[in-house]
Amino acid sequence: MRRLMTGNRPAHSSDARLDAGAGGERRGRRVAASPCGAGPRVVDGSDRSIRLAVAMLRAGEVVAVPTETVYGLAADASNPEAVSRVFAAKGRPGDHPLIVHLRSGANLAEWARHIPVQASRLAEAFWPGPFTMVLDRHPSVLDAVTGGQDTVALRIPSHPVIQRILQDFGGGLAAPSANRFGHVSPTTARHVCDGLAGSVGLVVDGGPCEVGIESTIVAFEGDEVVILRPGGVSPEAVASVIGRQVRTGARGVVRAPGMLASHYAPATPLELCSAAEAPSRAAKLVSLGKRVGVLSLGRTEAPGAAATWDAGGDMAAFARSLYHFMRQADTEALDVLVVALPPVEGLGAAVRDRLRRAAHRPVSADHRDHDH
Ligand code: TXA
Ligand code: MG
Repeated sequence: MRRLMTGNRPAHSSDARLDAGAGGERRGRRVAASPCGAGPRVVDGSDRSIRLAVAMLRAGEVVAVPTETVYGLAADASNPEAVSRVFAAKGRPGDHPLIVHLRSGANLAEWARHIPVQASRLAEAFWPGPFTMVLDRHPSVLDAVTGGQDTVALRIPSHPVIQRILQDFGGGLAAPSANRFGHVSPTTARHVCDGLAGSVGLVVDGGPCEVGIESTIVAFEGDEVVILRPGGVSPEAVASVIGRQVRTGARGVVRAPGMLASHYAPATPLELCSAAEAPSRAAKLVSLGKRVGVLSLGRTEAPGAAATWDAGGDMAAFARSLYHFMRQADTEALDVLVVALPPVEGLGAAVRDRLRRAAHRPVSADHRDHDH
């Protein structure tokens, strides 16, 4: 039985820090022994690296940067050519809006207007952090960023590396997750290289992401707060700040393109079940001669399985390692990954959301041609 992780750090220490390997050239801050090989340049979070990243962003280039949720593919949100490079690098449809990352709430009024009172409370509680708010856009925000909508998604991330980049850069950074469209979001610099080699010139390595799944996105409909995407801040935490229940899913006024049923998908088929069903599901598949993996919150007995991974009952750890183990299922060439759905409470809502999207399989060769 292999534990996903213990404590606060992800268990996948083999790719914990790309700059920790032998031969890493500390002074040049280039990671000479980068597993990205001839792929993008990978640098650590040194001052010199931050200056390089900021210079590239100012020049309209895209740079992959760490955040506490997942790695982002950042570009100057006020430069239309830079923003179009993000769409090209990801292979993302042009009408899917991007989240703009800001260093603090001080310049919020440059991006949004009519900030509801609930939004101010939520900002106070969850920024900086894994939390995004969809607000009425300021007229100067680019259509390329908002997908032509009259709203803009804003987030203040807490990861120290993107914070320093934002401080130096000054403006807003449009940054979707740094993966090819429809594929699993990256939680390490190596994941970025695996998916975007050839489409990004620089990856800033800030270590494995602490949260591991994307931010919670909320919108405001009248005086209601709606969760468009569950994420790193639980629905219960949002409800406790605003003092009432929150609804999940937009009623049509707010569009969230990009929230497709099939998203975040590994190549390995997933089979979702309850924790109680997992051992018998796995046993059945093993008896059919399949190469089976089992992923669960708590320990699961699965004799004959090629891989069994659990999070020691720790939901934050489950969220943190979820994408890593989706990728691992592909690396280990599993025929199927049986996943015991965790309880819906807390981060469980976001974990279940991602698992359902990953298990929803459109029959398209494109989605099988996966990112590793
Ligand atoms: O944790 C995160 O949010 C990561 C990191 C990099 O910050 N970013 C991320 O971005 O997940 P992306 O582009 O992969 O997902 C952004 C989501 C999409 O589902 C998009 O539809 C939604 O945000 N979105 C962006 N602007 C919106 C808007 N104006 N109205 C409704 N939804 C919006
Ligand atoms: Mg994404």
